Amino acid sequence: HHLLHVVQIAANAGAQVIMDAVNKPRNITYKGLTDLVTDTDKMSEAAILDVVRKSFPDHLILGEEGGIIGDSSSDYLWCIDPLDGTTNFAHGYPSFAVSIGVLFKGKPAAATVVEFVGGPKCWNTRTFTAAAGKGAFCNGDKIHASQTDKVEQSLLVTGFGYEHDDAWATNIELFKEFTDISRGVRRLGAAAVDMCHVALGIVEAYWEYRLKPWDMAAGVLIVEEAGGTVSCMDGGKFSVFDRSVLVSNGVLHSKLLERIGPATQKLQGKGIDFSLWYKPE
Ligand code: IPD
Ligand code: CA
Ligand code: CA
Ligand code: CA
Repeated sequence: HHLLHVVQIAANAGAQVIMDAVNKPRNITYKGLTDLVTDTDKMSEAAILDVVRKSFPDHLILGEEGGIIGDSSSDYLWCIDPLDGTTNFAHGYPSFAVSIGVLFKGKPAAATVVEFVGGPKCWNTRTFTAAAGKGAFCNGDKIHASQTDKVEQSLLVTGFGYEHDDAWATNIELFKEFTDISRGVRRLGAAAVDMCHVALGIVEAYWEYRLKPWDMAAGVLIVEEAGGTVSCMDGGKFSVFDRSVLVSNGVLHSKLLERIGPATQKLQGKGIDFSLWYKPE
């Protein structure tokens, strides 16, 4: 599979930049009071773009740091998060990654997430890959989401973005509710990594509001190919242009949606207008 091969080479190029920087001082600038970006985010994206543009000069590319470049008539859209979990990276706290998902006519087709594991003195990586209809893999081994079908036996994970709006407040309530009824809710700080952990079967589900296409494009395919289920937080059909996501091992999906409930439905319908780049079949 040529496309997935190039996705992997590009993700590895970004990961190499991060590995070279992970033990060095960070150069931080601010997009907002707590919304950081480091030189490494930008250098990783540059290394990734280098690979993509050489292999597929006619593809459309959406990178978190660089915006949209390329041919808008292309059927392919690369969603690139050169460093997902920047805050963790800035602190040397584990849970950050390179995340690249490629859409073909608006649908996830190939994905790679390179997750940094360990911590200072023992950084390492593991690589998640998926191609549509071909299964999900971690370091080359097939992976599957968990079979747990009881909320009270589940370990869950969520995230809170930089915008402290109505969705953020609602998620504080959901955090309370699910902490009460599950084995626990983790909050690690890298959306792509959280989704890969569902695919790996070490947590049962993950949800978050106000994400962007580059946070989700890779993770959602990896989860689906690992046998999990992906929807919006109101249970509706998901696209990476939506801004909320619920991913689960599949067995638990409807039970989680029942608990999330109609109270959160008013938060829907705030998708970003990516219609310029979206190519329905
Ligand atoms: C962020 C992380 C975090 C999530 C935020 C994202 P970034 O991405 O994925 O887990 O809670 O919503 O923006 O800025 O570190 O690439
Ligand atoms: Ca960011
Ligand atoms: Ca991100
Ligand atoms: Ca990022």
